[in-house]
Amino acid sequence: MSVSPDRKPEVTAAETGSGKLPRHVAFIMDGNGRWATARGLPRTEGHRQGLEALRRTIRHAGKVGIEVVTIYSFSSENWSRPPAEVSFLMGLLRRFVQRDLSELHKENVRIRIIGGRDDLERGIAALLEEAEELTQHNTGLNLVVAFNYGGRSEIVRAAQCLSRRVLAGELTPEDVTEDAISGALDTAGLPDPDLIIRTSGEMRLSNFLLWQAAYSEFYFCEKHWPDFDEAAFDEALSCFGSRQRRYGGLNAKAL
Ligand code: IPE
Ligand code: IPE
Ligand code: MG
Repeated sequence: MSVSPDRKPEVTAAETGSGKLPRHVAFIMDGNGRWATARGLPRTEGHRQGLEALRRTIRHAGKVGIEVVTIYSFSSENWSRPPAEVSFLMGLLRRFVQRDLSELHKENVRIRIIGGRDDLERGIAALLEEAEELTQHNTGLNLVVAFNYGGRSEIVRAAQCLSRRVLAGELTPEDVTEDAISGALDTAGLPDPDLIIRTSGEMRLSNFLLWQAAYSEFYFCEKHWPDFDEAAFDEALSCFGSRQRRYGGLNAKAL
């Protein structure tokens, strides 16, 4: 899928205080557990409140006019958490799709899932497919859900897919270019993230969008994810607006 940029924002970049708006914002929604623990609540309550923050974020991204939002909802490493937490998170994903899908569809949101699909429980895989299928012709915000996602395993799957095509004689080794690799990743057709926001003060990628983040801007926010709100989002957008992206070159003034 590639994104259609013919959308009019309800709030302009000037209103958010940012000079230029990122096309694609990716979120590492971190800190649910710490948010809950700090309040003497079970970690699961943090995940529940995190879902509210996600709803706010999607709404706001649509209003501001961002084209693509990617959310890191469950990493390929998160399976190593206690079974009770994993099963709560699976239930939450189910409820999110079941309760929010029709609303998101009405809002013209197009959903795409990235991450490993093999070995997923059939019920979950079917729900994810349903979300993608139902919204595939929508032209509004593109919501990319990284589920069972790991950047390294995504690159491995892409490399295996291209190797098979070379073996089959469809490609030569020289055809394996940066574009060919980008096109074999789960994110094929999407622009790379301009801005990656991670909440909760941790400053690492945790295996998120390793290839795609080559020239992303990073923004780290001290708030735990359940506290992430419109004001925090606007602050990140405004910070992005003041960044100079040089892609290894020099900015105009230095030339
Ligand atoms: C993010 O919050 C949600 C997922 C990883 C699924 P965490 O659960 O990682 O919360 P902390 O980092 O332990 O506080
Ligand atoms: C990254 O957060 C994964 C998601 C937000 C889904 P983690 O909490 O799993 O990352 P680490 O373990 O702190 O690196
Ligand atoms: Mg965490």
